[in-house]
Amino acid sequence: MDLKTEDDRSRPNILVTGTPGSGKTCTSALIAERCGFAHVNVTELVKAEELHDGMDEKWDSLILNDDKVCDHMEEMMGEGGNVVDFHTCGFFPERWFDLILVLRADNTVLFDRLTKRGYSPHKITENVQCEIMQVVLQEARDSYAAERVHELHSDSLEQMEANVERAVGWAGAWIAAKGEGGGGGDGGGGGAAAAPSPPGGV
Ligand SMILES: Nc1ncnc2c1ncn2[C@@H]1O[C@H](COP(=O)(O)OP(=O)(O)O)[C@@H](O)[C@H]1O
Ligand SMILES: [Mg+2]
Repeated sequence: MDLKTEDDRSRPNILVTGTPGSGKTCTSALIAERCGFAHVNVTELVKAEELHDGMDEKWDSLILNDDKVCDHMEEMMGEGGNVVDFHTCGFFPERWFDLILVLRADNTVLFDRLTKRGYSPHKITENVQCEIMQVVLQEARDSYAAERVHELHSDSLEQMEANVERAVGWAGAWIAAKGEGGGGGDGGGGGAAAAPSPPGGV
């Protein structure tokens, strides 16, 4: 397969990750809409395309098949212009993402959101502990270059709006920089435009 990297794309790919309930789907949908990008909700994709190995009864969730997910997504990621929304991120190829946003929510806020969602007490406790222990943030830091990973508060609608604004601004700057610096770069080092500064973190 022809594996494309960021040098081949005219639009960036953004990963929005975080503990379930942190606000990934709402935030990703807004970024995608305003940028004209695709919103790739990996949870929905896994269900729709059966990219799993059945149900884990203990956790009441599907057993992800990483290889099937990556194979399925490779082509669209090579094109760029995707906002990928998923609660785990270490298995995606590093070359896919230009910006990684890790949404964070206060414990009590997260507890309330997951309760409203009807999660079992077991699943709520597990997810809140995961948030306290910064599991997703650590996974993102272990998997991607530090300058691409940004931790963002997502407790309020004002914060969500600010996060979306920053991401949209960043994407526009990335596309503009790519346009200026592109043009047949063959890896010589001088052709590619520098990546714009990412959104401010917390
Ligand atoms: N920053 C935020 N401020 C207020 N409510 C939010 C925020 N982010 C998400 N929510 C609410 O929390 C719930 C979970 O959000 P969602 O985007 O589905 O999270 P995730 O996709 O990470 O599981 C939704 O009801 C959503 O409206
Ligand atoms: Mg979601």
